[in-house]
Amino acid sequence: MKILGIHDGHNASASLMVDGKVILALGEERLSRNKHQYGFPQRSINKILNICNLSTKEIDKVAMSTKTLPPRYFLTQRNSNFSVSDYWKEQNEYWYPLLIKGEKTKYTEIFKKYINYETFPYDLKLIKNEDDDEGMWRARKKHLCEVLNFDSNNLDVFDHHKSHAAYGYCTSSLYKKKPLLIFTIDGGGDNTNATISICSENGEITEISRSSNANIGRIYRSITLLLGMRPSDHEFKVMGLAAYNTQGYSQEAYKVFKNTLKVDGLQFAYHTPLKDHFFYFKDRLEGQRFDSIAFALQKITEELLCEWIKNAVNKTSIKDIVISGGVAQNIKANQQILSMNEVNSLYIPPGPGDESISIGAAYLSTLKNASKEKVSIKIPQFDPYCGTSYSDNEIELYLKTLDKDKWSFKYSNNKEIALLLSKGKVIARFSNGKMEFGARALGNRSIIADPSSADVIHYLNKLVKMRDFWMPFAPSILEERLCDYLIDKKKNISKYMAISFNSTEIANKHLPAGLHPFDKTSRAQIVYKKDNPDYHSLIKEFENLTGIGALLNTSFNIHGEAIVESPKDAIQTLQNSGLKYLYIGSYLVTKTIEGN
Ligand SMILES: [Fe+2]
Repeated sequence: MKILGIHDGHNASASLMVDGKVILALGEERLSRNKHQYGFPQRSINKILNICNLSTKEIDKVAMSTKTLPPRYFLTQRNSNFSVSDYWKEQNEYWYPLLIKGEKTKYTEIFKKYINYETFPYDLKLIKNEDDDEGMWRARKKHLCEVLNFDSNNLDVFDHHKSHAAYGYCTSSLYKKKPLLIFTIDGGGDNTNATISICSENGEITEISRSSNANIGRIYRSITLLLGMRPSDHEFKVMGLAAYNTQGYSQEAYKVFKNTLKVDGLQFAYHTPLKDHFFYFKDRLEGQRFDSIAFALQKITEELLCEWIKNAVNKTSIKDIVISGGVAQNIKANQQILSMNEVNSLYIPPGPGDESISIGAAYLSTLKNASKEKVSIKIPQFDPYCGTSYSDNEIELYLKTLDKDKWSFKYSNNKEIALLLSKGKVIARFSNGKMEFGARALGNRSIIADPSSADVIHYLNKLVKMRDFWMPFAPSILEERLCDYLIDKKKNISKYMAISFNSTEIANKHLPAGLHPFDKTSRAQIVYKKDNPDYHSLIKEFENLTGIGALLNTSFNIHGEAIVESPKDAIQTLQNSGLKYLYIGSYLVTKTIEGN
């Protein structure tokens, strides 16, 4: 049973699931080159059908999620287009009049510079006004059926949070092995921002709680903007900043958060009802230091999540937990959650935000239709390397088109690359293997370097990533060196850089560039040989030369851009950055003239 999963909102994506197994999954931003791409993932769908040599007639079901998306976001492509100043404008000119003064202004008038009605792909006749979710849904459905030439009777639609939960469940290594407790929490989707579900050993998912007040994500989003960063994007920077302050200096800010939101059993509640979040916190936090605000926000986030999860574990006696949804990207909160006595194991899937609900919806459609179609669902051995790939032939064909005065290339191997890394060179790695799914690069589309070199951070920040000075980088650590570098008492398998860990003394010597500069934690990727043998072997060669069983790993992109997808993207990234070396397929490409 072939199911095409589609998510056409924020971080649009498409996936192909066959009998419960993810065959391909692609974030639209990789192909459109527009980070957080909003809207119909046409390029991803085309790519998937093309790679799998399928026509839409051969697709049994299309699975989608989230009926309630307003036309104003489709029209403006808000999440992919808006700058920080646009988000401030949105607060001042749209949300303030609406939520504080009760006056409705026209969103599509305020942001008309982003709207092109001529190229808008949806039928405007079906949409009554900029807030008409229902009309937008009819237009989305019509557009999809027309573009794919697909019968709407074969379209399955699922709730936003049920899709988050299903993704967390079907990609967990404990799938059907143990009962699991699944939490979803995000900024909001289908009028909900958190759920708790029990997944029994036979695969049945039963929701036991649903909240619309679990506004941790929304509060985080407001503070991100108040601190001058991009909401629904740069929350991780606020989290990175938090580690630089302490409770003592952050009391005032902490009190503000503490007196706002609280946990109430499996639900959340407000101390006093709020009209809005942004202006509420702006008034109360004005004049306080940026890092004390970040600290206080992170502290309350950890406290609320831990209490909420503790309550659910105590009620159900299930200690193996999964968290999905945007808030699951808070690696520091995840560390606190994993450290609780109540928790046995914690799984955070790769890309737990909205980019993965196309996979969750596809799994729910599989469950719904499996018995009818007499299909047995395969145990989903989820492989995060489920994107596009390029063979050496394809890569060589492209490399031969490059200007020989600017680029040289030759065959290479892991031994030679490890030698260059040991000499302090920074190298972009574009492997022959499939591209990884989600926002974290897991070696196949990564920039790698010697993690023991402090100069590397400077080089990466200035010439490649144009990244914020306070943000840490992360390491890829060989599975066999895990205990040497990280304190992971529960032996929790952490393959996707989703949980931070305290580090050891040896880590301080071997991988200082892969630790948070202040609190020395690390959101490491543990590289298992069976998952990515070629990347494992490269780190092993580096270990043979240096004794260090890890590499610094940051995503292969310029800051603010999507991770590279194709050889062409890879070369362009080198051209527009200070990077000189690219290990692509079996070739080492060298930029012989400085870029730009
Ligand atoms: Fe979500």
